[in-house]
Amino acid sequence: MNIEDIPRRRFDALIIGAGGGGLRAALQLAEADASVAVVSKVFPTRSHTVAAQGGMNAALANVLPDNWHWHMFDTVKGSDYLGDQDAIEYMCRAAPKAVYEMEHFGVPFSRLDNGKIYQRPFGGQSQNFGGEQAARTCAAADRTGHAILHSLYQQNIRAKTHFFDEYFAVDLLKDEQGNVLGAYVFDIHSGEEIIIEAKTTLIATGGAGQLFRTTTNALINTGDGMGMALRAGVPLQDMEFFQFHPTGIAGRGMLITEGARGEGGYLVNAQGERFMERYAPTAKDLASRDVVSRSIYTEVKEGRGCGPDKDHVMLKLDHLPEDVLQSRLPGIRQTCITFLGIDPADKPIPVYPTAHYTMGGIPTNRQGQVVVPVKDTPEEPVTGLYAAGECACVSVHGANRLGGNSLLDILVFGRSAANHIIQYLKENRFHKALDENTIQKAYDRLHRWDDTSNSNGESVDDIRRDLQKVMEDNCGVFRTQDVLDNGMEEVSKLAQRLKNASITDQSELFNTARIEALELENLMDVALATVYSAAARTESRGAHSRIDYAERDDKSWMKHTLYSSEDRKLDYKPVRTKPMSVVSFPPKPRVY
Ligand code: FUM
Repeated sequence: MNIEDIPRRRFDALIIGAGGGGLRAALQLAEADASVAVVSKVFPTRSHTVAAQGGMNAALANVLPDNWHWHMFDTVKGSDYLGDQDAIEYMCRAAPKAVYEMEHFGVPFSRLDNGKIYQRPFGGQSQNFGGEQAARTCAAADRTGHAILHSLYQQNIRAKTHFFDEYFAVDLLKDEQGNVLGAYVFDIHSGEEIIIEAKTTLIATGGAGQLFRTTTNALINTGDGMGMALRAGVPLQDMEFFQFHPTGIAGRGMLITEGARGEGGYLVNAQGERFMERYAPTAKDLASRDVVSRSIYTEVKEGRGCGPDKDHVMLKLDHLPEDVLQSRLPGIRQTCITFLGIDPADKPIPVYPTAHYTMGGIPTNRQGQVVVPVKDTPEEPVTGLYAAGECACVSVHGANRLGGNSLLDILVFGRSAANHIIQYLKENRFHKALDENTIQKAYDRLHRWDDTSNSNGESVDDIRRDLQKVMEDNCGVFRTQDVLDNGMEEVSKLAQRLKNASITDQSELFNTARIEALELENLMDVALATVYSAAARTESRGAHSRIDYAERDDKSWMKHTLYSSEDRKLDYKPVRTKPMSVVSFPPKPRVY
């Protein structure tokens, strides 16, 4: 096919990804009368936001005293002081409004007896800058993400957002000046290719949990937007920080919400000991995730694990009243019954740290503009390009995200990116001409997988499985230089193998196979970014925990990593320690 013959559609704004970040942005834009297209490789309500369980943080003070400044302090401390304090202040201040907006969009939040929104305690939350436990997480039972995603989808249908359901975005398109002007996409069902021309493009494609074998993430979380950004010359920020959720179902990965501990559940080892009391004497089971994951890992490594292989710990909920399980945790109860044949009302749940969340991503400012270093400046916006949610790094999570801050992040920064786009559209009313070379490149990337002459090529599936094992073995909860160096070598070999892989199956599943190949290319680029960034950071901070550099090193490492795919180069830029309106929280030893 000639690229001139490929159909073109024009919109003011293109959004790639239909999770909470993409849909929140789309709604804001559609309500401002912008023409907005959302491209999603799955039907929108199957996006991974649907899997978020425990809730979203906002200092509503419905259950215990609270305010946004305490929330900000906890988030800065939780980030191990790598989060940018201006962005964190912005998010925490915006949080109550974001919750009320969702309530008005129809989210059926759980209620207190007085009718106010129910809030549960979550990890790393405190009152009064490190004091007593707070209760800040607004919940719709343990299906909060599900409720938010469905409400946002319905609001978008009402607002007449244009959806390209089950279309795959191959690559970003640009003009000759490097402005981003849309994307090259194809219909998964029919294979029809389309050029979507847009004055602005927002990437909201979520994280890359499929880097690891055992993960809470859906199969769709393959870092597609991050791969697209790298190929468009945008570096990825802070990719060494990958969160392992303490309580995935052992060996399988399904999420058991932190809300289970928020409701009073606790962890025990093989001796029945509440071991978190040793690691985090004050917060105990509600210490931040990096701390709890390391504690579980250490218990197992030191021989106090449960089960015949002593390879997990137990989460006890059987002491909780029946009505708490029934009204606050019905989803995880059902998951345990379905997948383990265990009712948590009777028996403890076997759990182990599980890959969960990509803290790093596409660097953005508070307005969602993608920013890159230009000459001597640490960052300049890429005209027309935005990112929000897990694929972005704004950076509010720094080295370790607090539970309940991800739903908040997608809603706050999805909205703020859309507001910036609305202003941009007022000043940029006309479409610009695409550089045909960028179309050709996207076309070639897609059609490279049509070549079946290399029928001895390796299967994509085998390489993906090997990648997940290499990442699990070499970039897990605890790291050392040897292990990370080995990870760089092994992922590099896999990247080479992928270049020689092919799809030999020409059956009716062809488009599915083609997508798996394109996804693996994205995942591979993200894996390289992760191991290269991790091997270079010779300190322990948040989720990046090095046995050989056990301490945080603020003198050398209060800086963000930037990884570019060209030459696999690493640069650094300073952490923004100055908040918008309050005084900074200086780094302190982080104890819970
Ligand atoms: O544990 C959970 O419910 C997960 C929440 C989150 O990742 O924010």
